[in-house]
Amino acid sequence: PKITFIEQNGTEHAVEAAEGASVMEAAVKNMVPGIDADCGGACACATCHVYVDEAWQEKTGKAATMEQSMLDFAYEPKENSRLSCQIKVTTELDGLVVRLPEFQG
Ligand code: FES
Repeated sequence: PKITFIEQNGTEHAVEAAEGASVMEAAVKNMVPGIDADCGGACACATCHVYVDEAWQEKTGKAATMEQSMLDFAYEPKENSRLSCQIKVTTELDGLVVRLPEFQG
């Protein structure tokens, strides 16, 4: 599945993600800048924060309780914020667009 990451400055990174991996892993593997992922995907750092494109929010779903409380530590969380390590790549998400925050918390 294809995922597009858009930086604050508008630079787009379209990557081919492996099914079953997380969106965070797809970013790290393809050297997309701006995803620090300090905890390595354990939902314990909030430095893999992304904003899910409005059109995709329904498909990615909402943050679980634990993820939501970590998001409080992210830089400028918004209603469409997610931790990208908690979004699993599926064929359903082919074409997904996420935006990167200005900083990671
Ligand atoms: Fe740490 Fe996602 S990588 S919360």
